[in-house]
Amino acid sequence: MSKPFNSLRSLSAVLVLALLGACNAKGGGSGTPGQAGSGGGTAGGAAGATAGSGAAGAAAGSGGSAIAGSGGSGGSTGVAGQAGSSQGGSGVAGGAGGAAGAVAAAPCSAPADPNKPIAKLSQTGCMSATDVTKMASIVIPYEVNSPLWSDGADKSRGFVVPAGKKIHVKDCTATPSDCPTGTQDTGKWVFPVGTVMVKNFGFDNKLIETRLLVKADATTWNGYSYQWNEAQTEATVVPDDADPSLNNMRFQASFNTGKQMVTWHFPYRFDCGQCHTQEAGGTLGLETRQMNRVVGGTNQIDKLATMNLFETAPAKPYQAALMLPYDGQLGTADKTATTLDARARSYMHANCSNCHRPDGVAVNWLDFRYDTTLKDTGACGIVPMKGTVGVMGAQILKPADPMNSTIWLRMHAPYKDGDKTRMPQLATYIVDDKGLQLISDWITSIKTCPN
Ligand code: HEC
Ligand code: HEC
Repeated sequence: MSKPFNSLRSLSAVLVLALLGACNAKGGGSGTPGQAGSGGGTAGGAAGATAGSGAAGAAAGSGGSAIAGSGGSGGSTGVAGQAGSSQGGSGVAGGAGGAAGAVAAAPCSAPADPNKPIAKLSQTGCMSATDVTKMASIVIPYEVNSPLWSDGADKSRGFVVPAGKKIHVKDCTATPSDCPTGTQDTGKWVFPVGTVMVKNFGFDNKLIETRLLVKADATTWNGYSYQWNEAQTEATVVPDDADPSLNNMRFQASFNTGKQMVTWHFPYRFDCGQCHTQEAGGTLGLETRQMNRVVGGTNQIDKLATMNLFETAPAKPYQAALMLPYDGQLGTADKTATTLDARARSYMHANCSNCHRPDGVAVNWLDFRYDTTLKDTGACGIVPMKGTVGVMGAQILKPADPMNSTIWLRMHAPYKDGDKTRMPQLATYIVDDKGLQLISDWITSIKTCPN
């Protein structure tokens, strides 16, 4: 989704105000976030009660107990709390606060106002009340088969579905209306409103960033990025105070892991939607072929089905798992059981097809979804519409010739602020050498384009 810059600017101004509001709560009138507790914590009540006017607290336990936070004096309407996930338990939440409080109705849920993110990660209820570096027990952890390249960071992921709500799994054959751009979207998961996705990024067992993605309505996911301190005691929402029209400069920080200095770039929260596109369904890694994976001895889809989280669980045998593209955090790519083609297409499905799909906003003449035939990708033997990246005669994919293919040239190009040559053009500053090698080998293996 590309939003015009002026709307980004005004939104970022709103955010700055919201942050100021949250910090200045004592000055009167504006709310302070109530702490969301999990596991039967008492944080919500305490914070809500002491926060002064307009504050609200909320707490719901995952294990059955829940403690109400008391609404501040500024609040008028009470907001019903959600129970702490499918694991059961009764949830209760405090009354809604006054106008400016950054408050979630229940632990790890959407902030009441999407433009007022909860300032501290520890207050979101998505992280454990006893160890803020761990996800809260209501967050269901998962792994994907084919990850996004994020400059070499290690990642962990989880989600919270509001109590009683279900995941819809697209079956394009049974319900063609679910899939306006073809059967390639079979197996994509659609989450209920109120779902929160959590993703941690780290190096050397230290967290550097946590991203939250919250489903606000049927088509809108809002993203928030949190910056971890080196002491690992708290992460703070990343401000959008730089003007995005100034060359798209992203917030950057140096982080000492104890073993190395890492320079890390935090995406704007308005960047999230450029990759987490509405067309691709908002969430990107949650689909049958990504989730069909055995973790800790259990297939993840079996586990979620047992938890009764699906409207209709995917039919068995599950859609074939995406191949791990190359050796990395998620294991060793099995090069005997998989083809080069399957691994390369898995990589492009995960890293490129959220934008490059027929209903994509930008460059939708390319379709890099896994099930799209090579011919229908619109790449093989095709003259690029967006330039040849300085190489005369380059094609998007030139058979057997990676260095004259703009797929390769663009993955290889250095990141430059405000320049869209590099693919993807945001949220990566370091070339993915293993990914590039894979794509190079793949292009080399293609001798002619299909007719
Ligand atoms: C370069 C494209 C890109 C950008 C920009 C991006 N993401 Fe993602 N994100 C992905 C992809 C691809 C996945 C799925 C693969 C994975 O998890 O490794 C993903 C996964 C996630 C997940 C796990 C749930 C899911 O959708 O699979 C969360 C949470 C998340 N991103 C949050 C954010 C937030 C918040 C922002 C903005 C601050 C953001 N992302 C920006 C590409 C991006
Ligand atoms: C966040 C959305 C997004 C993602 C993810 C993304 N692209 Fe792109 N892609 C674009 C945009 C926007 C352009 C147009 C760039 C320009 O104006 O030069 C583009 C252009 C291209 C082009 C040029 C097409 C032509 O006709 O000239 C190629 C090739 C390409 N991308 C390949 C990739 C590959 C390979 C990946 C994954 C490694 C990828 N893209 C990931 C948005 C994206």
